[in-house]
Amino acid sequence: MKSGSAIRSATVPGRVNLIGEWIDFNGGLVLPMAINRFVTVSVLEQGLAEDTIGSDSFGVEHKAALDAPPAGHWADYVRGALAFARAQGWIEGGQRVQTTSTLPAGAGVSSSAATIVATLKACGAEAAGLTATDVALAARRVENEFIGVPCGIMDQMAVSLCSPGHVLALETSTLSNELVALPADWQFLVINSGYPRSLADGAYKARRDECLAAATSLGINPLCKAQLDDLNALSEIEKRRARHAVTEDARSRQALSALKTKQRNEFGELMIASHASLAADMEVSHPAINAMVSCAVAAGADGARITGAGFGGCFVVLTSQSKSEAVWQVLHSQFPGISRLN
Ligand code: GLA
Repeated sequence: MKSGSAIRSATVPGRVNLIGEWIDFNGGLVLPMAINRFVTVSVLEQGLAEDTIGSDSFGVEHKAALDAPPAGHWADYVRGALAFARAQGWIEGGQRVQTTSTLPAGAGVSSSAATIVATLKACGAEAAGLTATDVALAARRVENEFIGVPCGIMDQMAVSLCSPGHVLALETSTLSNELVALPADWQFLVINSGYPRSLADGAYKARRDECLAAATSLGINPLCKAQLDDLNALSEIEKRRARHAVTEDARSRQALSALKTKQRNEFGELMIASHASLAADMEVSHPAINAMVSCAVAAGADGARITGAGFGGCFVVLTSQSKSEAVWQVLHSQFPGISRLN
């Protein structure tokens, strides 16, 4: 059945994080931006004995009993949101759902958060009175409790509140936020390295636990509130993770003012420093992406960095509008396996 015959449908963008990486669970400031790639979730039938989830991208339909646990399948993101919506009384019984997506999965551009948020909206979250922030919080519960990934709040807030061309400046300790329009001559290229990553593979949780352990050792909560001088007492690993959190939060705050004052070069320098810290202190980069980031900067970009949870996936490059095509051509000739998302 086509999505045109849907009972209800919702379309939600993916996001790229410009700076403020690995600090959304450490109380930092983050700057994600919505991209022109979307997930659409359509509810086609309701009141069924089981859930049936189809996808234009993956072909095969997935069927599951209403109380079945997650199956390690892409459809889990939809099923977790359906279970949440049923528990809230927004929908009744099993649902037949169809998803379409122009967002690559496993590339660090929040296809999972977009799928959950779109499903919650298609199930009537807004009609039930939830604000965009409430929907984001509900989506994080689905990801934390049903999927089992202890992610922060950045992705859900970005895809729920942001539209393409706008940056969401989000204080993750309070959820206070503002939307800042991208200056007309700035271009953020979002590029898939071709090296996939998986958030559920335990590495994300391990890094997050190291950050929380550092905060506990210091007696400071959240970790981004620590001072660099405080960190000397920590073990080597905790010191590195904490140093990333503290310096990344400072970079993100400086980047927000560079964005508002249209200082592209300064924003780019902060991205380069962010990448170095993610590679050395947080240890979430990938050797191939380190080479791509260096190549982008050598080709004249203002800045470049790995984006999202890391270990592979996408990187983001800042250039002027006029230079972006030339920078892309250099990158693509050096790394033919990469692809542009925008
Ligand atoms: C993933 C998580 C986010 C955030 C980023 C790293 O995208 O879902 O909460 O922690 O990694 O910045």
